[in-house]
Amino acid sequence: MQRALLTLALAAPLACDAPADPAPFMGDDAFVRDPALDVELVSAHGDAVSHATGDNCMRCHQENGPGPGRFTAAGTLYDEAGDPHPDGLVELRTAPDGMGDLVAAVEVDGLGNFYTTEALPLPASALFPTVYSQDGARKNFMPFPTSSGACNVCHAGGFGVRLPEG
Ligand code: HEC
Ligand code: HEC
Repeated sequence: MQRALLTLALAAPLACDAPADPAPFMGDDAFVRDPALDVELVSAHGDAVSHATGDNCMRCHQENGPGPGRFTAAGTLYDEAGDPHPDGLVELRTAPDGMGDLVAAVEVDGLGNFYTTEALPLPASALFPTVYSQDGARKNFMPFPTSSGACNVCHAGGFGVRLPEG
């Protein structure tokens, strides 16, 4: 099961639905990014300027993409029913389940998305994500560390970053 998910995840960025276009394709080294796009962006509770819920944000918010801000970690948080969960919190730590040192805390916005351009030790040092509900009462954590902050690459389809029932 896990292997199937990972295989799908690896295939996902290649399965591109961009229309036929002679211009270099986003993600390609030849894609020319406007330097004005390199702004600092961090999601905050209540914000509603993000979009593309569930999509891989780093398809575009990257050095060879058209999205403002080069995201170092980004994705979408869902509730137990599979709906986007607004105003939660995502922590990246040196140990699982809210343990270890806190490396980054990113507030989930009002649409359920979270994103940051802050410098992270990824991919050299892998980090453990722990996520919290809006009221902080529920949490979920990844049992092993990730060296990619592009959460929605793996957490796609019915496998979104999700809160437990509670
Ligand atoms: C297909 C490319 C693409 C994907 C995928 C994508 N974005 Fe974007 N994003 C853009 C572009 C282009 C803009 C600027 C134009 C606009 O606002 O539509 C933008 C704008 C934004 C903005 C507003 C920035 C500002 O300066 O106000 C935020 C925040 C954002 N995206 C977050 C996200 C998040 C979070 C995800 C993933 C859940 C995501 N984006 C996925 C291309 C993308
Ligand atoms: C390389 C693929 C990959 C990336 C990238 C990834 N994850 Fe995961 N994540 C997994 C897998 C696989 C599991 C399932 C682990 C298990 O249940 O044994 C998981 C589990 C989780 C869980 C627990 C889910 C549950 O229902 O028990 C959370 C929460 C989570 N990840 C959050 C994140 C966040 C936040 C990010 C981005 C900072 C992220 N993950 C990036 C693959 C990934």
